[in-house]
Amino acid sequence: MNEFTIDTPIRSYSWDELSESDKHLVEVAKRNTQNSYSPYSHFCVGAAALLSDGTIVSGCNQENAAYPSGLCAERTVLFAAGAQHPDQPVEVLAIAAYTDGHYTEDPVSPCGACRQVMLETENRYKHPMRVLLFGANHVYEFRSAESLLPFSFISDDLKGGVRAR
Ligand code: THU
Repeated sequence: MNEFTIDTPIRSYSWDELSESDKHLVEVAKRNTQNSYSPYSHFCVGAAALLSDGTIVSGCNQENAAYPSGLCAERTVLFAAGAQHPDQPVEVLAIAAYTDGHYTEDPVSPCGACRQVMLETENRYKHPMRVLLFGANHVYEFRSAESLLPFSFISDDLKGGVRAR
């Protein structure tokens, strides 16, 4: 028997330690929480994607009375970016959440389905996507989507062969 471990490097920043560009992107994500359509959970999530050409695509979670028909903020934004700017890699994705009248103190951890879509976005453009998770107390940075979803199912697995990465 062999045991091995996959590490997930996470950087934790205070607000003041962020670059001006990252602060701006997080502010856009925070603002977008206010556009959230979340009458069922009252959990308002905003996201903002910075593309390679400098464009920012932003959005928020969209719920539905038929619950599974709704969509998280992250996928709303990444699918919109892919639809509107298919040639632009995503450099950074920022995420923030607001509930009970305030932004969450700790960063919100993206769901598994969103991590899967983040990873495919990164692989699609062969370009690492940094992920910024806002919390009022600290902001987490993942240097790539892959670190959020280790040992993941990717397109190479469909071929049944050896992984290219
Ligand atoms: N949600 C997101 O938009 N992103 C996440 O990372 C976690 C959860 C949404 C889905 C649903 O509308 C609400 O938050 C509660 O789960």
